[in-house]
Amino acid sequence: MSTEEKLYEGKAKIVYATANPGELRMHFKDDLTAFNGQKHDQMAGKGYYNAQITAILMSYLQSRGVPTHFIRLLGDTDLLVRRLEMVPLEVVARNIAAGSLAKRLGLEEGKVLTQPVFELYYKNDALGDPLVNRSHVRAMGWAKDAVVDEMLTLARQVNTLLQERFAASGLVLVDFKLEFGLSGDQVILGDEITPDTCRLWDASTQEKLDKDRFRRDLGGVMEAYEEVYRRLLNRD
Ligand code: TMP
Ligand code: ASP
Repeated sequence: MSTEEKLYEGKAKIVYATANPGELRMHFKDDLTAFNGQKHDQMAGKGYYNAQITAILMSYLQSRGVPTHFIRLLGDTDLLVRRLEMVPLEVVARNIAAGSLAKRLGLEEGKVLTQPVFELYYKNDALGDPLVNRSHVRAMGWAKDAVVDEMLTLARQVNTLLQERFAASGLVLVDFKLEFGLSGDQVILGDEITPDTCRLWDASTQEKLDKDRFRRDLGGVMEAYEEVYRRLLNRD
């Protein structure tokens, strides 16, 4: 498999071509980055936990009717996925104020939002993934209106489903980021769902079990990822 063409290398994953033009292999690296790559480290096991967690959550969403790119796990750190034409937007869903929302609006971290908030960010590392709205998307032609509608509808469904799934594992889903792609006209959930891309708090202690442990130098980063994986497994 190492002879396959590398199509894309990001901060946390590498995407390879496969013998089937409609399918890709997504490899999860042990690298951790934050603040648009300014902070960087490697942690043994991170690729394993993130691949396994993504597989569990994507299978779960698929079984509840959400179209995802996930096909199957390939060993410990790789996923076989459908090839999509990625939309250059990130959708962030938030249930509790934290991170950039808390900072931007001066909210106390932990404030429960009266309804979920959905945001769009333009995927561009050089610009630091700026927050945008639908008129920006229209004016720049990043995606058709109907595609953005569908992305937001799916993000809302995914939020409800993931909140339920994490709650069953004693975890609160504070916020998370999704990426979508197109296969023909169909909008499909792509990328990953991991403690890199979600904020997850222990339901009883509020302890952070996600990448904020790395961003904020709280220690116990891999222990937290392992704990999320272990809790999800116990509920499968
Ligand atoms: P934020 O509070 O920094 O905007 O992040 C909101 C959520 O989105 C958080 O769960 C982390 C996730 N996220 C990513 O996965 N990738 C990113 O590049 C950013 C900025 C956030
Ligand atoms: N994902 C971004 C990075 O790796 C930002 C973050 O998660 O803090 O730099």
